[in-house]
Amino acid sequence: MITFSINGQEVGGEEGWTVLDVARWHGIEIPTLCHHEAMEPFGACRLCAVEVDDGRRTRVVISCMYPIREGIKVQTETPRVANVRRWIAQLLLDESPQAPNIQELAKSFGVTPSRFKKTGVESACHLCGLCIRACQEVVGVQALTFGNRGVLKEVTSPYHRRSQDCIRCGTCLYVCPTGAMEQIFPLVSSE
Ligand code: SF4
Ligand code: FES
Repeated sequence: MITFSINGQEVGGEEGWTVLDVARWHGIEIPTLCHHEAMEPFGACRLCAVEVDDGRRTRVVISCMYPIREGIKVQTETPRVANVRRWIAQLLLDESPQAPNIQELAKSFGVTPSRFKKTGVESACHLCGLCIRACQEVVGVQALTFGNRGVLKEVTSPYHRRSQDCIRCGTCLYVCPTGAMEQIFPLVSSE
């Protein structure tokens, strides 16, 4: 058992657990977007930011990927953490102003649409990778992948062809937090 503290409360977890795992185990709330218990962590959204003092320095880390260590001090609600989360929530809301999950998330941070919001877009893909991981890790097929790089990065099917691996189970649609998969699915799924 590894023991450390979250918000001053002594907590513990097993070797290999992340800060997010332990927080959830103890009922401590940390917001997430790209995380799902059934899948490997991916670290795409950074919404799960927390502040960690490891005895040498204090820094903001993403809790879904940060392995627990003996004696670290984790804070989940500092001003730095709140700033990071609000900034991410603002980006998400501006790109997906109509997605109910994102609206709810933004509301919980007191974030409203900014003047930079995208027009004509209801639910953008935030490249969280949940759909791809669900397809591979939960369903066990490789119907989805990331294509291109940088600003052109997108969710697509291997070789940009309709995937014959796709069994049209709809798991990707179910896990997508923005609804973007509803536009992608008809282009990549098997016919
Ligand atoms: S389509 Fe949805 S689940 Fe897939 S990466 Fe984009 S936002 Fe995430
Ligand atoms: S939930 Fe940790 S980076 Fe997305």
